[in-house]
Amino acid sequence: MNLSQARDALAAARRVAVLTGAGISAESGIPTFRDAQQGLWARFRPEDLASPDAYHRDPALVWEWYAGRYRDVMAATPNAGHDRLARLEREKGDGFFLATQNVDGLHARAGSGTLGGQLVELHGNLITARCEVCGQVEALPAPEGFTPPPVCSRCSGRMRPNIVWFGEFLPEDALEAASDAFAAADVALIIGTSGVVYPAAGLAFETLGRGGTVIEINPSETELTPHLSFSLRETASRGLAALNGG
Ligand code: APR
Repeated sequence: MNLSQARDALAAARRVAVLTGAGISAESGIPTFRDAQQGLWARFRPEDLASPDAYHRDPALVWEWYAGRYRDVMAATPNAGHDRLARLEREKGDGFFLATQNVDGLHARAGSGTLGGQLVELHGNLITARCEVCGQVEALPAPEGFTPPPVCSRCSGRMRPNIVWFGEFLPEDALEAASDAFAAADVALIIGTSGVVYPAAGLAFETLGRGGTVIEINPSETELTPHLSFSLRETASRGLAALNGG
C-alpha cells in the first residue's frame, strides 16, 4: 500500500477506529514515556510511581508526581494532530471511534467524543480523581487551588488518581467498546504509540483479523510496523495532514 492508496482507503471508510499514544501529545510539549532523550520513565521507575503498591507505600509522593503532571497538562493545549482527529470525527460521524492511551485530556479538549463519534480513555485521565471508598469520580480543582490528596465530596474518603496503573485492569466496558470498534473498522489509524503495552497495542490486530486496513503514523518504526498495511514516518499532525486533507 502507498500513501495515495492509504488516503483513498481513509476517504472511503465508513467506520474508522483510531488508537493514540503519547506521541500525539508530544507536539503539545508533553513528554512521551519511552523516548530516551525525554521520556518520563527515563527519570522514574514506573513501579515507584504508577502502581497500586507505590501508592499504598507513599500516597503523598505519588500524588505529588500526578499533581505536577496535572499542572503540566492543564498548561498545555491541543495541537494540530488533536484538531485533525476532531475534524475526522466530524466527517465520519457515528462511524468514528477514538481510543487513547493518553491521560492528558487533550483529545476531549479538542472536542473529540462530542462530534458524532466516540472517545474512550483506556488508561483514565489526570484531570479527575476516584474515591478509594465509594468509587465516586470527580474533576480535580483548578491547579492553582489544588493541594493533594482530594477528598470525596460524597463520603469524605481519600481520592486516588483516576489512572489505570501498572498491574491494574483496564475498565471492562472501555476495552470491550474499543475491541468491537476496531473489529468493525474499515480503516484503523495507530498514531504516536510504541505499541508495546497490551491490550491497547492488540487493537490493530482486531482490524487486520477482519480484513480491515491499519495505517500507522509515527516518526519511528515500532513493534507493530511490520504487521500493518501502511506506516507513515511522520509526526501526528503532518501524517494526518498527508492522509486526510491539506
Ligand atoms: N508524532 C507522532 N508520534 C510521535 C511523535 C510525534 N510528534 N513523537 C514521538 N512519537 C512516537 C514515538 O516514536 C513512540 O513510538 O510516540 C511513541 C511514544 O511511545 P511511548 O512513549 O511508549 O508512549 P505510549 O505508546 O503512549 O505508551 C503506552 O505505556 O507507560 C505506559 O500507560 C502508559 O499509556 C502509556 C502506555
